[in-house]
Amino acid sequence: MAIREVIQVPNDRLRQKANTIVSFIPELKQLTQDMFETMRHHNGVGLAGPQIGVLQRIFVAEIRPTRLEQGEPHPQSGASYIIINPKIIGYSNQLAEGQEGCLSMPGWAGLVERPNWVEVQGQSIEDQPLKVKVDGLLARIFQHEIDHLNGILYTDHITDSEKLWQVAADEENEE
Ligand code: NI
Repeated sequence: MAIREVIQVPNDRLRQKANTIVSFIPELKQLTQDMFETMRHHNGVGLAGPQIGVLQRIFVAEIRPTRLEQGEPHPQSGASYIIINPKIIGYSNQLAEGQEGCLSMPGWAGLVERPNWVEVQGQSIEDQPLKVKVDGLLARIFQHEIDHLNGILYTDHITDSEKLWQVAADEENEE
């Protein structure tokens, strides 16, 4: 396991469309372990391949039980996800505005409007088909990470400059 370097903006790799993963070689397991280690090291809740320079369609997400929200563990804490070749196959028409940050853009946070829930189809690390429906913070993380695979950053969704502000690094949800 190794902590990988997280690519920061501006960098062309963060703006490219990542490639579909066709070969489930053992190195993919090593990659996901590194992604989890890197994400946890930075207290993040999600990380996409391109953020560590791997232009492959893969992301990991995790809300750790230690993350507290008003003194209580976050209701979605505990579950970890590895999703390969993710595709959004359904989403709510209702939008929610929520705060986001990005490990590729430390020191900033912003408010982004996204569908409340999404249904995502993809493959597991074992090359098995998977389908998962998530809401709340997880839905936000999933959409943020899938955007990364398409070269999109959360700030692209923010048109009102008052909805983007500076924060102490590692203070907010970092994806
Ligand atoms: Ni991000």
